[in-house]
Amino acid sequence: MKRTLLITGGAGFIGSHVVRRFVKKYPGYTIVNLDKLTYAGNLENLKDIETQSNYIFYKGDICDAPLITKLFEQHKFDGVIHLAAESHVDRSIANPMEFIQTNIVGTVALLNAAREAWRSNFDNKLFYHISTDEVYGSLGQNGKFTEKTPYDPHSPYSASKAASDHLVRAYYHTYKLPIVISNCSNNYGPNQFPEKLIPLAINNIKNSRPVPVYGTGQNVRDWLYVEDHAEAIDIIFHKGKVGATYNIGGDNEWKNIDLVRLLCKIMDKKLGRPEGTSEQLIQFVKDRAGHDLRYAIDSSKLQKELGWRPLTTFESGLEKTVDWYLSNQKWLDNVISGEYQEYYKKQYHLR
Ligand code: NAD
Ligand code: DAU
Repeated sequence: MKRTLLITGGAGFIGSHVVRRFVKKYPGYTIVNLDKLTYAGNLENLKDIETQSNYIFYKGDICDAPLITKLFEQHKFDGVIHLAAESHVDRSIANPMEFIQTNIVGTVALLNAAREAWRSNFDNKLFYHISTDEVYGSLGQNGKFTEKTPYDPHSPYSASKAASDHLVRAYYHTYKLPIVISNCSNNYGPNQFPEKLIPLAINNIKNSRPVPVYGTGQNVRDWLYVEDHAEAIDIIFHKGKVGATYNIGGDNEWKNIDLVRLLCKIMDKKLGRPEGTSEQLIQFVKDRAGHDLRYAIDSSKLQKELGWRPLTTFESGLEKTVDWYLSNQKWLDNVISGEYQEYYKKQYHLR
C-alpha cells in the first residue's frame, strides 16, 4: 500500500526507533522526518536507514507554520505521527517557555496544517499525537492510570503535554479532524539522551562519577523498552479507533533507588569490577521540584482491543541498553560534548 507519512521529532530517542521501524517494515510508505535537531535530535540515530529510498529528512521547526504548509502541499501526507517535543522535566523547570512554544504552539501549527490540507476529505487520514502518562499527575502507593484518569499535570513539561492533548481532542470534536492519542510510561533503550535517568547513570557509572539520585530515591516509574513503544505506535496508527486514547506501559514498576542499584550491579559485571564497587558512586541529591511520586499505567485497553503487549523483559532490555551504551562510545562522546556540560553543571552542581 502506498502512503506518505510525516513523522515529527524522528531524530530523537523514540522518534528514531519509530522512523526505523516504519522505513524498514513498510517499503511502500514514504516516511518524511521533520526535526529541528535541538540538543536532543541526532541524525547519527538514523545512520543505518538514511539512504533508504523511502526516507526523506527535513531540518525544521514544527512552529514554522509556512514550512509545515509547504511540506503538506509538496508531499500530500496521509498521516502524521507527532513526536517532536521538548521532553525533559528538569529542563522544563529551568526554562518553561521553550516547552510552551514547541509542545503547545508547535502542535497547533501541525493541527492547523493537517486540517487545512485535508479539509476536502478526512477519509483515510490520521493525526496521531504521542503523549505521556505524566499528564495524569502522581499516584499514591496503589492504583494505575487508565484512559479515564482525570488530567492533573504537575510540571511545566507535563502541563504543556496536557495542553497539547486537549488541543488535539478539541480539533477532533470541533472540526472532526481524525486523531488518535497515546499516553506512554517511561521509555528506555539505545539512543536515549543521557540527561534521562538510565543513560545518565550508565555514563556516570562507566566513568566512575557520582550517580545523582533525587531525594531519597523512593519515586516509582513504570519502564518500557523503546522498541515495544514503537510497536505499540505502529499498531495504534494502523488499527486504533479514530478519536480514541490508548495508554501504553510496561507493567514494570521500579523505585529509582532499586533501579540504580540494579544498574550498578549489571555495570560491575560488564566492567569486571568487584561487586558493590559502582554502588558506592550513588549520591542522594536535592529533590526535583514538584517531583511526582509514582507513575503506573493500566494498558489493558490497548492489550484487549488491539492485541499489543510488551515483549521485552526488563532484564533483557536493560542488558541490551547497557551493551549499546558501552559499545557506542563515539555516539556518547558526541552528545555529551558542548551544551551537555553546561546543562550538567547547572543541574547537578556536581563534578
Ligand atoms: P527526545 O527529546 O529524545 O526527542 C525529541 C525530538 O524532537 C528531538 O529530535 C528534537 O530535535 C525534536 N524537536 C524538539 N523541538 C522541535 C521543534 N520545535 N520542531 C521540530 N523538532 C523538534 O524525546 P523522546 O524521549 O524521544 O520523546 C518523544 C515524544 O514521546 C515526546 O512527545 C514525549 O513527550 C513523548 N514521550 C516520551 C517518553 C519517554 O520516556 N522518553 C514517554 C512517553 C511519551
Ligand atoms: O513518564 C513518561 C516520561 O518519562 C516522559 O514523558 C518524559 O519525556 C521522560 O523524560 C520521562 O520523565 P521522567 O521525569 O520520569 O524521567 P527521568 O529519566 O528524567 O527521571 C526518571 C526518575 O528518576 C524520576 O523520578 C526522576 C529521577 N532522577 C532523574 C534524573 C535525571 C534521578 O533521581 N536522578 C537524575 O539524575
